Amino acid sequence: MRGSIARRLALMFALAAILITSTSAVLLRCSLKQSLETQMHNELTLRHSVLDPLLAKYESPAMWVVVHEKLDSLTPTDERVRYWVLSDNADYSYGGAMPDGLDRSKHADGFSIMEVPDQHCPMVLLSKTIPAMGSRPELRFIVGLDSTPFMGTLSTFTKTLILTSALGIALAALLGYWVSRFGLEPVRRLSNQANSLPPGDSKQRLDTEALPDELQELAVSFNGALARQEKAWCQLEGFNANVAHELRTPLTNLIGQTQVALAHERDLSELQDLLQSNLEELERMGTIVNDMLFLAGAESGQRATELSDVSLCEEASKTVEYLEPVLLDKQLNVVIQGDMRVRIDRRLFHRSLANLLQNAARYAAPASTITVSLVSNGLQAEVSVSNVGEPIDSVHLEHLFERFYRADAARARSDAHHGLGLSIVRAVASMHGGRVFARSAEGLNTFGFSLTSETLR
Ligand SMILES: Nc1ncnc2c1ncn2[C@@H]1O[C@H](COP(=O)(O)OP(=O)(O)O)[C@@H](O)[C@H]1O
Ligand SMILES: [Mg+2]
Repeated sequence: MRGSIARRLALMFALAAILITSTSAVLLRCSLKQSLETQMHNELTLRHSVLDPLLAKYESPAMWVVVHEKLDSLTPTDERVRYWVLSDNADYSYGGAMPDGLDRSKHADGFSIMEVPDQHCPMVLLSKTIPAMGSRPELRFIVGLDSTPFMGTLSTFTKTLILTSALGIALAALLGYWVSRFGLEPVRRLSNQANSLPPGDSKQRLDTEALPDELQELAVSFNGALARQEKAWCQLEGFNANVAHELRTPLTNLIGQTQVALAHERDLSELQDLLQSNLEELERMGTIVNDMLFLAGAESGQRATELSDVSLCEEASKTVEYLEPVLLDKQLNVVIQGDMRVRIDRRLFHRSLANLLQNAARYAAPASTITVSLVSNGLQAEVSVSNVGEPIDSVHLEHLFERFYRADAARARSDAHHGLGLSIVRAVASMHGGRVFARSAEGLNTFGFSLTSETLR
């Protein structure tokens, strides 16, 4: 969801305020209403408690004249309190018919509400039965209390409550907005800092010192991303330099040889030699460029597609056979151990195994044995090539699979080995969802790669 965090927080503050104030307002109003009702009931009960014994005491209609006078005197002029005595006998009746027209003598004793025509608020009634005594029949005595003053209090209170609640909510929203703007200040500072990072300077980092805890993590991750970018940038720069360097040697040779040849008259055989030599240089450049293209493809996430079911042992034997001349040169013996069936791109497999075997042949002690191991390791097939040879320094071991990296820098550029062989092994492994490894221990140097379950299906 887009939008301003400050606005969102202000809205949340306002919603919280609405919830809190409306709940407390409803509770307050309920409690006030209840206490006002209790007050009205108390007043009615009080009046009954004073008058009931009087009414019960008098028996004859003559004596009831006194009662009527007493009730007259107790009825205020504004008729806030009213009395009714209901009886079939008109001598005892008082107060006339009930304003709502209901026959209240048939209702149960107790509190009730009576709507009065022309009056906004109802009357609260307390009815009681006065038992018959002597000649006097049973009577019903009702005291009514106008609820208008009480309801007035309640409505004034409600209005005040609504007003203060609205004010409170508005204030909470404003305060929320201000608090969140104030609280988000470090975020703004961080973004300003990120904005002011100068382009081209890959060493720049955000200053995490002045940031609050919550933003430290973000800034640290951001700095981590910058560091990774810097590393990739350095690799790219180094890589460019390497490519230029690798191509410069054959180009210099080509130019030099051609210039020398052109300086004098040459006979056909000399020119043929020159072309032959130039062709070799061109082929070398072609190999580098092709290898680079292959690596670029693998790096962009290309996967092996031409998969076929093969026996690794059979395929390895074919590679060994193909390299027979190189191996015979140094009287090397190759042993293949283990076997398994996998689904792989056999062309790529040959290419990477050939690279490993060529390296092994190059660095193996003369007349020693090179071992090709094919091991199933859980869901992975591991292919490794070991040869007897000089121990490799661990400083080099972890870098040997990088492009153009050679442990022996002095010998590096003297021959056709341009340091891409192991990078290609790594690319083939990653195209099969695997990885590479190198070990140097007990006089044995082992280089290998794995193929994951995806290709073992
Ligand atoms: N079997 C091995 N024994 C010792 N060093 C090796 C072996 N295989 C590879 N290396 C080291 O790894 C480096 C990189 O190998 P590679 O990528 O095949 O490039 P290149 O063979 O063109 O030099 C080699 O230059 C060498 O220093
Ligand atoms: Mg090599």
